[in-house]
Amino acid sequence: MPDSPVNASFSSSPTSTSAMPANGTACRLALGYLVFAVRKPLRWERFCHDMLGLPEAVANPDGSRGYRMDGAMQRLIVAEGPEDDLAAMGLICEDDTVLDALAARLRQIQIPVEEGSEALRASRRVQRLLVTRDPDGNAVELAVGMEAAPAPFTSTAFRGGFHTGRLGIGHAVLVSHRLEAMEAFYTGALGFGVSERLATRVGPMHIKGIFLHCNERHHSVAIFDMPLQKRLQHFMLQAEDLCDVGMAFERAKLGKVPISLNLGQHPHPDGTISFYGMTPSGFDFEIGAGCHEIEPQGWQPLHTTVTSSWGHKPSLRLQMKMAANMLANAIKGPSKTKS
Ligand code: FE2
Repeated sequence: MPDSPVNASFSSSPTSTSAMPANGTACRLALGYLVFAVRKPLRWERFCHDMLGLPEAVANPDGSRGYRMDGAMQRLIVAEGPEDDLAAMGLICEDDTVLDALAARLRQIQIPVEEGSEALRASRRVQRLLVTRDPDGNAVELAVGMEAAPAPFTSTAFRGGFHTGRLGIGHAVLVSHRLEAMEAFYTGALGFGVSERLATRVGPMHIKGIFLHCNERHHSVAIFDMPLQKRLQHFMLQAEDLCDVGMAFERAKLGKVPISLNLGQHPHPDGTISFYGMTPSGFDFEIGAGCHEIEPQGWQPLHTTVTSSWGHKPSLRLQMKMAANMLANAIKGPSKTKS
């Protein structure tokens, strides 16, 4: 491991402290990496290169491949697996003290947390690693010290690069039918704060959701109760330059990447201008820019009934998919099985 891990770039300012867990210990976290188990790794390789504009992947000891989007050695980790879904979410702690406090908190409230094996640490390229699971069984990895890449990040597709650093790589939106239990885990155990609560209607479908922050990013994790079969509804990467978002949208259309939501903007206080498309595993990706930051200290949760102030028009393919899932749920009940 290098001497200068990537989480050293986190702000140390006390004013940047995010939500406090119930034990009163400051909890400074960021979404550090995402791990996907995919059925078609070669299609993902083309997707990461051609659509996301990421450089050639690094090979990990466990066979997974890690893709860079900044100074870290890897941010998106793609492993071969039958799930075609999220395999793990990596939360990077500011330092060992934060990690130790989180581990103590989890054990205090009797949520199992295990040391990551040496092999797992090597493949995640982190110095320390603990593994726990949220109430839906999603693997949540708490880590310190991401390995830094030997050279600066460059991408011809994202000339401005991605906005990461102490805010993390963007966000992950999980699908759950147990919002209360999931909120209790992410807020009570991990110290996230609730940015907004969503209750909206898309056609005949009601959607409830929560947006959760662990730093100044409006949400690093969101949880939606909606009729989808995946653990992950979408992940978002934030470009520095809005022009790169427009170019990515053009690239998606030219490359026949299925678009889910056309260009649009999330309302205040998020403000992100983005579009959504489908990954080779069937869940979506979002590429955006112009995300507004929030002040976590003293933040009061907002309530919203809209997800976009303009645009984000759903494609016919997405409308058909949602209708089919809703119909399947109505006939058989939710078929997504989670531990
Ligand atoms: Fe999003």
